[in-house]
Amino acid sequence: MKYIGIDLGTSAVKLLLMEADGTIEKIVSKEYPLYFPHPGWSEQKPEDWYEQTMAGLQELLADTDKSKVAGISFGGQMHGLVILDEKDEVIRPALLWNDGRTYEECDYLNEVIGKETLSKYTGNIAFTGFTATKVLWVYNKEPENFARSKKVMLPKDYLAYKLTGVHCSDASDASGMLLYDVKNRCWSKEMLEICHLTEEQMGTVFESYETVGTLLPGVAKELGLPENVKVAAGAGDNAAAAVGTGTVGEGACNISLGTSGTIFITSREFKVDEYNALHSFAHADGRYHLMGCMLSAASCNKWWMEDILNTQEFAKEQAPITEEKLGENRVFFLPYLMGERSPHNDSKARGTFVGMTMDSSRTDMTQAVLEGVAFALRDSLEVARKLGISITKTRICGGGAKSALWKTMIANIMNLEVEVLEVEEGPGLGGAMLAAVACGEYESVEEAAAKIVKVKETVKPQMELVDKYEAKYQVFKQIYPALKPVYAIMS
Ligand code: XUL
Repeated sequence: MKYIGIDLGTSAVKLLLMEADGTIEKIVSKEYPLYFPHPGWSEQKPEDWYEQTMAGLQELLADTDKSKVAGISFGGQMHGLVILDEKDEVIRPALLWNDGRTYEECDYLNEVIGKETLSKYTGNIAFTGFTATKVLWVYNKEPENFARSKKVMLPKDYLAYKLTGVHCSDASDASGMLLYDVKNRCWSKEMLEICHLTEEQMGTVFESYETVGTLLPGVAKELGLPENVKVAAGAGDNAAAAVGTGTVGEGACNISLGTSGTIFITSREFKVDEYNALHSFAHADGRYHLMGCMLSAASCNKWWMEDILNTQEFAKEQAPITEEKLGENRVFFLPYLMGERSPHNDSKARGTFVGMTMDSSRTDMTQAVLEGVAFALRDSLEVARKLGISITKTRICGGGAKSALWKTMIANIMNLEVEVLEVEEGPGLGGAMLAAVACGEYESVEEAAAKIVKVKETVKPQMELVDKYEAKYQVFKQIYPALKPVYAIMS
């Protein structure tokens, strides 16, 4: 049988058709616009997601035997707020994971309700990206829209709803709403009350590998698929990517270099760090994970190349960054172009170049952008290391993972062995694997990961470079605290 993984990303939806043994038959990608209507705001239209998903599915299935498709599931951009009215119409564009407008609501939650209380109810504290702050923003700033909201859901759950008619979520994605009691895997009654919501407005929460329903007859007809195709709940994109890279079980690590950058560490038990600098979320394998999320990762490189250097030739720009330049750069870049989530939780932080002299070059700045992202990921890794978690190797996925240079920087800046996989389609592959588990093709997510995911090569840290980068990191980590008060007074 065949399985479809839908990776609902920020720039595009990527659809992947997988054979039962993990072989990928086809991948299709469909873009949609991202709107920044005001500084710090970030929105998309859920209708665009659905339209492009359906167009993508048509293309994906064009030359395949559709009767062989057994299941569909998702990896979806996390935390976004979709609100529907009583006719199930979208009320307003979705507020996305990287939207920073909710800093007042975030402060209210962290300071008035209190971080300890939030952590007790959910295992996490508030970040501007988290859904609860967006719910409060709509309540405070658009009361007429709030009053019309009958259903509240996450981006991929809107797709599941359109495909099946079932109002659902999964434990991994629900974890990022700050409305969900992660440890006990249920909605937090207290948080729903604080955010003026009722449980009727929220979907039923499934495990990622559980079936939520089958295709609606109209959808099945439009796609030419059997009506008994199962739709599994799926996962937040990072948990789905972890499944797709085989990052399951205990103490495994995955780095995703997409629009956002994440470091994802699995755990069989629920764990929280002292300051909640890392997110404590449910994992798609039925267990838990810790995650550090930086808001701009590969997007820093894209911004630098396309918007500033005005080029599409990324490889040509990076070619002069030869081996002997690694660990020697005197220019630093702080990658906070959308503020920062982990570990600083500062929506006012800004992207910053530091350390230029008259001889600094365009190449030094290009290098600093790539290194800055790796240093910032290390900040989150350090929090995990302080918890006593020993991480010596990681897997990697996302658009940025295609760059050999970036992988070498990550291996040496973080002092980790970086395992490169045969298939780097993290969330899409993870989504298809979750569908396969839901359809009984594999007994568990761990079994699917063990059978499907294969390591192609390992990028090993080199001690001399690790030492050089260690010295650079000691400088990097002092720059943000020094600039924090300045960011606070910048508009
Ligand atoms: C994770 C996060 C991002 C988005 C990107 O907490 O906000 O990684 O999921 O799609």
